[in-house]
Amino acid sequence: MNKLPLHCIVLAAGQGTRMKSAKPKVLHGIGGKPMVGHVLDAAEALGAAAVHVVHGHGGDQLRAWFDRHYGSERKVYWAEQAQQLGTAHAVSQALPAIPDQAQVLILYGDVPLISVATLGALVAAGDDTLALVTVELAEPKGYGRIVRNAEGAVTGVVEENDASDAEKRIREVNTGLMSMPATRLKQWLAQVGNDNAKGEYYLTDIVAMAMASGLKVATVSAASAEEVEGANDRVQLARLERFHQRQQADALLRQGLSLADPARFDLRGTLDHGRDVSIDVGCVLEGRVSLADGVSIGPYCILRDVSIGAGTVIEAHSVLEQTVIGAAAHVGPFARLRPGTELGDETKVGNFVETKQAQVGKGSKINHLSYVGDARIGTDVNIGAGTITCNYDGANKHLTQIADGVFVGSNSSLVAPVSLGAGATIGAGSVIASDVPAGGLTLCRAREQKSYARWQRPQKNKKD
Ligand code: UD1
Ligand code: CA
Repeated sequence: MNKLPLHCIVLAAGQGTRMKSAKPKVLHGIGGKPMVGHVLDAAEALGAAAVHVVHGHGGDQLRAWFDRHYGSERKVYWAEQAQQLGTAHAVSQALPAIPDQAQVLILYGDVPLISVATLGALVAAGDDTLALVTVELAEPKGYGRIVRNAEGAVTGVVEENDASDAEKRIREVNTGLMSMPATRLKQWLAQVGNDNAKGEYYLTDIVAMAMASGLKVATVSAASAEEVEGANDRVQLARLERFHQRQQADALLRQGLSLADPARFDLRGTLDHGRDVSIDVGCVLEGRVSLADGVSIGPYCILRDVSIGAGTVIEAHSVLEQTVIGAAAHVGPFARLRPGTELGDETKVGNFVETKQAQVGKGSKINHLSYVGDARIGTDVNIGAGTITCNYDGANKHLTQIADGVFVGSNSSLVAPVSLGAGATIGAGSVIASDVPAGGLTLCRAREQKSYARWQRPQKNKKD
């Protein structure tokens, strides 16, 4: 039935004053992605031939976000609506870039959770039909009401401010999302006036025009009230965020992921997981996260662009960013793995350890209180508590190389650039500023230990 290319118009010119924000409303995020990003992704998933965004003030911010996020991968036609004179006027701004031979789909940039399934049903109504997404609300106040005749056919949409008392009792409302042939849309919009209670050009006026012209008018029911809900303030935004997070969590649970509490789980990106993966409460996952079979994530961890191998355990309160971890490793509690960290299989990184641009070979351990940055560490290395790679001289970063089987005693400072040969042992408390040969013991500290028997500790002044 659909022969014509699909052109989506995303209305995003509303000021969004109630957000009380310097950002355009549609850039406020749900699940870590601007609302308008959800809508654009839905249009993409529908296979739209072109997407047109109608923006108002803040268009520069919108374009800047789009370029940053999608780069040259996707194209959008931008149309500015300098003054917000109503939804019909907004749609008109996009018309010059829309060919006659097109099916048009109207979307709202501030209705982020609309499902591809619902939109698919709307578009499937055909390119010779005016199709509307409607929903039944217990509290329809504020919305345009769907007016039907005795046969149940839609005869028009009446806005709240123009509705009679009887019409106000109608609970089926217009969500604003609709589809129609471009030729008809162009004819109708030319006829829409602003002689109504709000003095605006109402897009909804086209419904009665379609009916009068004998065009088929169809409706599609929304699957939930939330998927067609707009966010005008931060209370609504937070409510939609919770709904979205719960939907994601439930989908993951159905796929076999174990979540200690789906209400205390936040995914702001994508998660790939194997079998028997479990995530405890309070975790935030961002970007692209991949967890292989049997991975266990303790409570209150943050994972941002992370890939973790099978059977690895991440303990509570660990923060991992741009990190790759092998299988059967053990991290945390309280570990901080910064960008460029690569931990091999069976590695251990314990509490209060910070790593950055560090490759750690199979079976190596950094168990307590260390900073390991700009380092290449071989296999079966043991880094003692309190060891620091002094990688920064105030201007440049330098590399620390530690070969297989090295044992670094506690509280050593490794002053980079420096390299430690295979199997070397470093005595505790050493400051290692020159390369260390393989094997043997190397230490660098005050030569003798002395004791002063009559030494007196400083005393606190007693207050009188
Ligand atoms: C509109 C519908 C109403 C529907 C409701 C659903 C009309 C006349 N009414 O009402 O039937 O029940 O949405 O939420 O269409 N926008 C612009 N430029 C404008 C005006 C609006 O871009 O000049 C955008 C807004 O940013 C928003 C969308 O269009 O994304 C809807 O605008 P809004 O003012 O919320 O419409 P309502 O009056 O609530
Ligand atoms: Ca509205």
